[in-house]
Amino acid sequence: MWGHALNNPFIQNAPLQTLVQSVFSPTAFDFWVSHLNPTWSWQRPLARIVARQIASQDCVTLTLKPNRHAQPFLAGQHINITAEINGARFTRSYSPSMVPNQANVFTITVKRMSGGKFSNWLHEHAKIGDVLELGAPFGEMTLSNVYQKHVFLAAGSGITPFLSLIHEWVAQGALGEVTLIYWAKTQTELCFVEAFSALTQKYSNLHVYYALTQEQTPQNFQTPNHFIYERINQSLLDTLVPDLNQRVVYSCGPAAFVEQARRLTQEQAKDFYGEAFGLPLITHDSTEQVNIHLTKSNRTIRVASGEPLLAALEAQGLKPESGCRMGICNTCVCTKQAGTTEHILTQERDTEAGSSVRICISSARSDLTLDL
Ligand code: FES
Repeated sequence: MWGHALNNPFIQNAPLQTLVQSVFSPTAFDFWVSHLNPTWSWQRPLARIVARQIASQDCVTLTLKPNRHAQPFLAGQHINITAEINGARFTRSYSPSMVPNQANVFTITVKRMSGGKFSNWLHEHAKIGDVLELGAPFGEMTLSNVYQKHVFLAAGSGITPFLSLIHEWVAQGALGEVTLIYWAKTQTELCFVEAFSALTQKYSNLHVYYALTQEQTPQNFQTPNHFIYERINQSLLDTLVPDLNQRVVYSCGPAAFVEQARRLTQEQAKDFYGEAFGLPLITHDSTEQVNIHLTKSNRTIRVASGEPLLAALEAQGLKPESGCRMGICNTCVCTKQAGTTEHILTQERDTEAGSSVRICISSARSDLTLDL
């Protein structure tokens, strides 16, 4: 279980803990004990990579064993994972494809992103024995205890929370019905096909459809009738989920996909939960420039009005803390002391001094003062 600590005699022995605490700072303690075991730490949530497996053409699954400081999390939630790459710390959010089990391990399945420093490092350099830092779990897309009929709509690496959600649904008795529609460009990009196949054979109330957008001839598949070849649209949903008005819908994938899923289902479905990665394509008028004054670093920079603030600051060499980059983990939050910001997804504007701003999904609509 998650709460079972790694076998760390330093941390679990109370008298020794007191003695050590009086001699070392937590940082010094971490430095010295990490030479004995890299996941031993006074207080930092860490996890060691204990296995890696190819999940698809461009995805790798890493199995992680956390230390005792890691917080429990639910299927469908995300956690921030931090690694040091060439001396710099990078953080990205992942929704585990398996939550901690009896052996106290969980998995993340990482898609290699073109130009993605972190995902490429996890693919090419992260090895068994390496230690990653974990953040607190976050996210609302957990299994409903109100509705028993679910529709899961996944695109690309948005599939990862649904494997753990389906395992959670099984653990809770596999009641009601689950329909998963999973979009990928080609068959070779599909993850977890064997797992889904085993689950559908066991549970007749679980239905899985694979939707390919750039291929029409899946090879060696036992269930070719479960392949479809169209993007998300109303008539497809009407055909595959005729009882949508009795179901709760979950969608995870690129922002445009989740928005489309929301638009097509929200009015009929009982409820809708969406989690998007990346921001919709943003067009901003780069001719209109605003000043961003950063009080902690005592700098003023000029950025385009309407440009996502996190990306704009990074483009100028600043490194504000960030995690999910999609507005749900709060890692990037800061206080706005003056000025007008705009929520990139909802276009809502905020003029209030002293309000909190998530800079990954906010843009400046006037000169701003931020406590960064
Ligand atoms: S980085 Fe997660 S909310 Fe901004």
